[in-house]
Amino acid sequence: AKTHYHEFVIQATPVKRLCKTHNTITVNGQFPGPTLEVNNGDTLVVKVVNRARYNVTIHWHGVRQMRTGWADGPEFVTQCPIRQGKSYTYRFTIQGQEGTLWWHAHSSWLRATVYGALIIQPKEGENYPFPKPKRETPILLGEWWDTNPIDIVRRATRTGAAPNVSDAYTINGQPGDLYKCSKQDTTIVHMDSGETNLLRVINAGLNQQLFFTVANHKLTVVGADASYVKPFTTSILMLGPGQTTDVLIKTDQPAARYYMAARAYASAQGAPFDNTTTTAILEYKTVSCSSNCVKINPVFPSLPPYNDTATATAFTTKFRSPRKVEVPTEIDENLFFTVGLGLQNCPRGARSRNCQGPNGTRFAASMNNVSFVLPSNFSLLQAHHQGIPGIFSTDFPAVPPVKFDYTGNITRSLWQPIRGTKLYKLKYGARVQVVLQGTSIFTAENHPIHLHGYDFYIIAEGFGNFNAKKDTAKFNLVDPPLRNTASVPVNGWTVIRFIADNPGVWLMHCHLDVHITWGLAMAFVVENGVSELESLEAPPVDFPVC
Ligand code: C2O
Repeated sequence: AKTHYHEFVIQATPVKRLCKTHNTITVNGQFPGPTLEVNNGDTLVVKVVNRARYNVTIHWHGVRQMRTGWADGPEFVTQCPIRQGKSYTYRFTIQGQEGTLWWHAHSSWLRATVYGALIIQPKEGENYPFPKPKRETPILLGEWWDTNPIDIVRRATRTGAAPNVSDAYTINGQPGDLYKCSKQDTTIVHMDSGETNLLRVINAGLNQQLFFTVANHKLTVVGADASYVKPFTTSILMLGPGQTTDVLIKTDQPAARYYMAARAYASAQGAPFDNTTTTAILEYKTVSCSSNCVKINPVFPSLPPYNDTATATAFTTKFRSPRKVEVPTEIDENLFFTVGLGLQNCPRGARSRNCQGPNGTRFAASMNNVSFVLPSNFSLLQAHHQGIPGIFSTDFPAVPPVKFDYTGNITRSLWQPIRGTKLYKLKYGARVQVVLQGTSIFTAENHPIHLHGYDFYIIAEGFGNFNAKKDTAKFNLVDPPLRNTASVPVNGWTVIRFIADNPGVWLMHCHLDVHITWGLAMAFVVENGVSELESLEAPPVDFPVC
């Protein structure tokens, strides 16, 4: 196994999109940031130097970080931010994961522009479980704001209102030719006729789940979140922010230009959805347009409408592991977490300019009615490791504090979460089941729930209220998919299982940044086991403290 050394300089760089140039926070002046490529078993050493005027951290999304929680990256969870002028070296080993992951800033909304692909090839000397593709291309789906995303979130947190939606979706950083001033820079992916190639699709968007398709071509899904899946063929993918999907594409169509396109899947949310399709172009090399390709119109695909839950669900429920897997059949921790939005009443006499949510309230979001608050002067992991009291409590409820109907039919008093830094403690090796139940309070939405430091099996999902008696019969304990981010369907639920074999503090949150901003998060604290190999390593010497 190899060790790969990289330096990431976080810096402001002028980037032009949608006819305007903005000073944009980038890594090494690149947007999207550099692609990292390793083999399963390799070690990555990335020195992050902060030359921007914001605090920053980098998270290696989906990397299991076995015993190396210090390198996970979420601000105030596993580390204090890297301040301006300072640096921190992340060091971790890829153990058993193969496929596509990504990295992103985990500080305010900086990940809007600070992100890139992390590609994990099979172990040296080993092969894919499918024929080796001729070419491999990362496809990063993103969102672009025509202004600084940090200002957008700051304004929203101050006023309590919902932040602006993005001004464009992007593929590999480019909005594509349906947007103003973007045609010349549209991403073009070249392929030859008769090849089988691999697209590594990543949803790096902030707040939107996205459908993705390639005109006239079938896509064969072979992996997701750096685990292989039983191959299946589809023409539409749906990815929540945080998720990755690896697909094989066969260039078996007439030599021409075809659009790849992505568009929002927004379940019931009422945001404006005109002109939100981002495009890239798949161009067959033999197409005879060498200098004049812009004149050949690509074939346009059909994409589902933004509220097409049937298509989204048909896709997410197709995933299976390639073979029988070892899902824990017995469970030690039977947890039930509600996930959803809420509103906070403004205190009497509060200034109305701070309460610009619906009916003079502020937006909030919660799990089990707790709206998560990050510490501001300590990281949770450090507090846990050093036994420092007063930073967090471990009374996060195992089940919702009140029983209620999750179909939106509930009293106003349950709309208001309490705020707190509450963690849930797990013994090393505990077999954990979590039912994630959408509350559909205020609006019904699909929530991509991401767990740090773990992959989990998704053993079932469904609509309405989870019913322990009836729905247990639907559990797939044979070949469920292994993921790090699960879509909790709109007006529905998802059940996950994992073994708590990675000690540390691990955030679980909705990967829509607007929801994490409102508190849709909690964290597990996983205790050390008995031996050193079952314990968190010591923090690195340059670990940033507050
Ligand atoms: Cu992709 Cu908490 O992050």
